[in-house]
Amino acid sequence: MKRRTLFLGPPGSGKGTHATRLSREFGIPHVSTGDMLRKHVSQQTELGRRAAELMESGALVPDALVLEMVVERLSRPDASRGWVLDGFPRTMPQAKALDSALEPRGIDLVIVLEAPESEILERITGRRVCPLGHVYHVRTQPPRVEGVCDVDGEELQHRRDDTAGVVTQRVAIYHSETAPLIEHYGGAQVVRRVDGTGDRGDVYRRVAAAFRG
Ligand code: AP5
Repeated sequence: MKRRTLFLGPPGSGKGTHATRLSREFGIPHVSTGDMLRKHVSQQTELGRRAAELMESGALVPDALVLEMVVERLSRPDASRGWVLDGFPRTMPQAKALDSALEPRGIDLVIVLEAPESEILERITGRRVCPLGHVYHVRTQPPRVEGVCDVDGEELQHRRDDTAGVVTQRVAIYHSETAPLIEHYGGAQVVRRVDGTGDRGDVYRRVAAAFRG
């Protein structure tokens, strides 16, 4: 099994959806920098105060702030058997810092989830999330009771960065800053491209097959 796995893919490609499920099925933590940063924002920590405005506009949070947060998370005992990284690394400096932190072993698998821009906008503007990270879609994956999380009964929210204008900015940053990492990992023969379109269950089966190797 590919226990040190990370997801790359544009906003709305399904990274959170499938990383959560992999984590549950294989018993290794799902480490999402987006979720971690949103928690800092809602708790109004110093990091959260510095990140909030950037995230709302679709810009990236500075590497140094994110790196410190991720290195601390990966050093916890539950991460010793592996992890599924979602949303990190996102820039070349983040990728190189992760490589150094993991030496000598490195990454086992990079799953690149692919979805066309025409679909991304519809997915993201219809997304609703609960404060604990469960993900829905108003049309294609609605909760049983409108506006309420099936799992924990929390009120569902529309992320402030899930507007059409901000999504366009996030997609552009993905192409300029993050997509070049595919080439960085491609050299290490660990990259698997997975078609992220179609039924969620079918996409997950492709993801899990890549994970099992
Ligand atoms: P982050 O939270 O990581 O956002 P993102 O990368 O833009 O990804 P998303 O969460 O939007 O999408 P996803 O691919 O997880 O899709 P999902 O599964 O939810 O980051 C947010 C911000 O934090 C960044 O902009 C930045 O400011 C900051 N940040 C985070 N990490 C950082 C870092 N490392 N460095 C610097 N800054 C950082 O699915 C989307 C929707 O589609 C859902 O509604 C879902 O139900 C639906 N869906 C999923 N699969 C399917 C399917 N097969 N068919 C139809 N609908 C589907």
